[in-house]
Amino acid sequence: MSPIHPPFLFLLLLLLLLLFLFLHCSAQSLLSPTDRKALLNIRQSLFDLPGSTFFSSWNFSSDPCLSFSGITCSPDDDDNNFLRVSVLTLGTGLTDSPGLGGILPTSISNLTALTELVIFPGRITGQIPTNLGGSLPLLRLLSISSNLLLGPIPPSLSNLPFLHTLDLSQNQLQDSLPPSLLSSNPSLKVLILAYNGGLTGPIPSQLSSAPNLLHLDLRGNSFTGFLPPLPSTLRFLSVSINSLSGPLPPTSPALEFLDLSNNVFSGEIPPAIFSLPRLSSILLNDNNFSGNLFLPFSSDTTVNWAVVDVSHNMLTEIRRRVWLPPAAYT
Ligand SMILES: *[C@@H]1O[C@H](CO)[C@@H](O)[C@H](O)[C@H]1NC(C)=O
Ligand SMILES: *[C@@H]1O[C@H](CO)[C@@H](O)[C@H](O)[C@H]1NC(C)=O
Ligand SMILES: *[C@@H]1O[C@H](CO)[C@@H](O)[C@H](O)[C@H]1NC(C)=O
Repeated sequence: MSPIHPPFLFLLLLLLLLLFLFLHCSAQSLLSPTDRKALLNIRQSLFDLPGSTFFSSWNFSSDPCLSFSGITCSPDDDDNNFLRVSVLTLGTGLTDSPGLGGILPTSISNLTALTELVIFPGRITGQIPTNLGGSLPLLRLLSISSNLLLGPIPPSLSNLPFLHTLDLSQNQLQDSLPPSLLSSNPSLKVLILAYNGGLTGPIPSQLSSAPNLLHLDLRGNSFTGFLPPLPSTLRFLSVSINSLSGPLPPTSPALEFLDLSNNVFSGEIPPAIFSLPRLSSILLNDNNFSGNLFLPFSSDTTVNWAVVDVSHNMLTEIRRRVWLPPAAYT
């Protein structure tokens, strides 16, 4: 028995290496047929508004993963032979670009490996597909702002374990906020639904138990009822320009920006609000607050307000009170 001849071994290794490279490269350029079909459908459903050139790179005789703008592909965890679309960004986001038009295609739901879906400002209309969330379990970022989306926010945008930012601001969405959106998205940090006009009903009490929420912007809608107690993580809250009423709820010690202006909040303004350690903007103007307003002494160096507006309320008197540390109010 002679041992394997070294040159032969070398040749064998070289062949294996070439085979590996070949398989690897061919896998790199193969978009899954499902995703390819969905992209074709998206291309047929949407179009560049005059002056926009976003879709000029979308030529289906070349490889979408290599040549289409707005697309990032990643290996498929379940099937190593294919790539999946993991990031889809429609439109350029340039301020001078008019964006895209058309009807939001339901086939977006077929891109089931998506982690980020961003549509830049344009004139895309239609409803958000009912099962969008259920179909895209890996979603981290969903941002479709300044378009013409209609209808409700589907409850399926809940139970998304990785979703950290949901921005559907400046559309024409209607109906109430699904309560599970706030309580059942464990990673949700940023929720922006501002300036839809037609979002209505109460702000769900589940807000209080939102586990990680930092930024909530609901301004410019038609919400009614009381504001629930705020979650202790919240730093930014705007509910300006709605029809919210009732007294101020307990606030979050983490608050930095609070805008409750242009509602019908009533009752006294709790003095504790002016002693929150990080709160620098306090906009309570244009409400129905009444009674005396107690402010901490200006000699107190820990308060650091950039803006305080309590104008256009029913306040009777503004008084200074002895400053107490924030802990005294909790
Ligand atoms: C999307 O997926 C559904 C269900 O698998 C299928 O019936 C439909 O043809 C797909 N649509 C596109 C445009 O790929
Ligand atoms: C798409 O690419 C093919 C091959 O490169 C080319 O022949 C064709 O003209 C292109 N189509 C468009 C619309 O640019
Ligand atoms: C404003 O508050 C007063 C009590 O201070 C109440 O009688 C009145 O109904 C409130 N107005 C609105 C529009 O809520």
